Amino acid sequence: MNIAQLIQKYKGKIDRLDLEILIAHSLGKTREFVLIHAENSITSNQSAAINKLVKRRIKGEPIAYLTGHKEFYGLDFIVNKHTLVPRPETEMLVELALSEISNFKFQISNYCIVDVGTGSGCIITSIVKTLQQTVNHKLTTRNFYATDISKEALKTAKSNAKLHGVEKKIKFLHGNLLAPLFDASCFMFHAPCSMIIVANLPYLSAEIYQSAPIDVKKYEPKSALYSAEAGLAHYCELLTQLKTSHQSFSMFHVSCFLEISPEQKIPLTKMIKNIFTAAEISFEKDLAKKWRVCKIEIC
Ligand SMILES: C[S@@+](CC[C@H](N)C(=O)[O-])C[C@H]1O[C@@H](n2cnc3c(N)ncnc32)[C@H](O)[C@@H]1O
Repeated sequence: MNIAQLIQKYKGKIDRLDLEILIAHSLGKTREFVLIHAENSITSNQSAAINKLVKRRIKGEPIAYLTGHKEFYGLDFIVNKHTLVPRPETEMLVELALSEISNFKFQISNYCIVDVGTGSGCIITSIVKTLQQTVNHKLTTRNFYATDISKEALKTAKSNAKLHGVEKKIKFLHGNLLAPLFDASCFMFHAPCSMIIVANLPYLSAEIYQSAPIDVKKYEPKSALYSAEAGLAHYCELLTQLKTSHQSFSMFHVSCFLEISPEQKIPLTKMIKNIFTAAEISFEKDLAKKWRVCKIEIC
């Protein structure tokens, strides 16, 4: 059997693009190779491996879990059942954080970036990788932190940072939201003047989670998606932790970028105002023109 015959065999059973990705993955080649070398023959072992993957895809398993990889911000990330599959809209958090850094008048040693609920580590790794290529300053673990409640996700995040050569720049901390950061002695001694928080925490309300596609509900960790209180419980706790710690450390400026669901714009604004009365709040839309990121500035 060759590639063209294999594509014919599964035509209509799964999406054509998905099929090409699964074939490429099983052959250890690129999708371009699959498209150009349709006459290439396939061994029976390879055919059996592809057949297994196609069956799993038909049941709804996300392509990224089948291949174990997902592209994000132009980089390849390892993903598995412990991590959310990075979404394209989350790239906004990377762009907004980088733009905030470029606006900074302070030296890099005076600020830090914290990725709360890092999952695969896609956000913090993309930020550090980009900075490494674009700024002249020496980047250290005093500048970059990532936290997650899931030890397995943190392990994957560390592997991804290593894959992209930035593992020595990021301090990975296990625990609840910002708690492990404020407990970390390294942070206590080098508390920065300014902090950028990026967070794509669980924010789906019970209703939205219930109506999510089967691929999401059956395969992605619920602990990475669902949050109580109409999806805002995690952000409420994060900001409450921040309020307590903001007063104890020498930070004078905090910018938070939170990924949200569009309908949360108004209730989230109310919630933030309750916690930080003087905070400046703004929102950014994604490419689909939906409210996707909330920016909070706290002085
Ligand atoms: C929506 S996923 C986002 C993962 C990754 N940042 C991304 O954008 O692909 C949310 C992540 O937050 C983590 N998380 C959930 N509750 C948490 C908590 N209380 N403290 C720290 N991390 C938490 C989950 O384990 C998960 O990895």
